[in-house]
Amino acid sequence: MGGRLPQLEDLPDVSGKKVLLRADFNVPIATASDGAQSITDDYRITSTLPTIEWLREHGAEVTICTHLGRPDGRPDPAYSLDPVRARLEKLAPGVRLLENLRFSPGEEANDAAFVDALVEGQDAYVNDAFAVSHRAHASVVGPPARLPSAAGRLLAREVEVLSGLLDSPERPFVAIVGGAKVGDKLGVLRALAAKVDVLVVGGGMSYTFFKALGHEVGASLLDERYLDSCAALLAGDVEVRLPVDVVALSPGSRIHRGEQAPESERTETFGRDVPGGWEAADIGPETRRQYADVIASARTVLWNGPMGAFEDDRLSAGTRAVAEAVASCAGFTVAGGGDSVAAINSYGLADRIDHVSSGGGASLELIELGDLPGLEALRAASNAPRG
Ligand code: 3PG
Repeated sequence: MGGRLPQLEDLPDVSGKKVLLRADFNVPIATASDGAQSITDDYRITSTLPTIEWLREHGAEVTICTHLGRPDGRPDPAYSLDPVRARLEKLAPGVRLLENLRFSPGEEANDAAFVDALVEGQDAYVNDAFAVSHRAHASVVGPPARLPSAAGRLLAREVEVLSGLLDSPERPFVAIVGGAKVGDKLGVLRALAAKVDVLVVGGGMSYTFFKALGHEVGASLLDERYLDSCAALLAGDVEVRLPVDVVALSPGSRIHRGEQAPESERTETFGRDVPGGWEAADIGPETRRQYADVIASARTVLWNGPMGAFEDDRLSAGTRAVAEAVASCAGFTVAGGGDSVAAINSYGLADRIDHVSSGGGASLELIELGDLPGLEALRAASNAPRG
């Protein structure tokens, strides 16, 4: 039987005790031509500092564990934590950091012996790794069954904001969902359809909705397997807004991420019917206006997923317009998902959004399923407040 999510204050006195802190320092790392690695965005590290500071102020000796990338259960220098360790040493000197958890197959397999080794010598466990709490991995779900445990400040805030948003949003509540793969987002779209006043759809997944309405989508992304699901969502009770126009690439063109496109490649704006060979890859100007208006009228906004291939300058206007509209909205605004957060950061808008989630998959799964394995494990810990 689980209780409420235990907070740091629910731990036994940590003064002079050893505390294992599961963080998500799965940060983007760039490798220079000379092989030197550097962190390009340390948001996930700085977001964990309040938890580290609380533990140290209360006299705990903190050991942090995290994964980085997907090294497949064996040591791989490409996923070494050295750059993370160097940054952490600057931000929180003296905190110990274990090697990448995913260098061992026991982590993803949730192997009991691996958990035992991890908690050996530790007195308490704190999970501040919201972004990986949808994974039933050893370091996420194992320690709470063995040690007094608590949610770190970041994890607690993520759960409070995302659960609060779904339980008692101020209305109108508008969700904007983008991204390329409709199959990945259908579950969350269905869950949101039951909660929001308006569901705004953008990104590559829009074109499967277009097709479900009988439009021709040219060479745009399309997943025929989900045509019926898209049609069912459109026929449901919630107001679903789809793009009314798109920016498309001329036949034979491709998306250029962070590089100049050759002049021979053209983009053009079309309505919902995209001519053969053309690939829609952003929302058009009229859609940008409409989406900005609906966002401006909201009292609560949730945004996940870009409106197009925004890393290509020719296809970034839609994502930028939505990011700016969310930032300008007077209501309570929440953004999540790696790509939308990267866009928000690159436009310098993070400070103008009430909550920028550190979790992509985790935030979607929490919205879709209402719980996560890492949260369940914490609520079942021996020290969790009951009732
Ligand atoms: C993330 O970046 O979304 C989390 O760190 C989880 O990583 P994973 O998808 O490799 O489990």
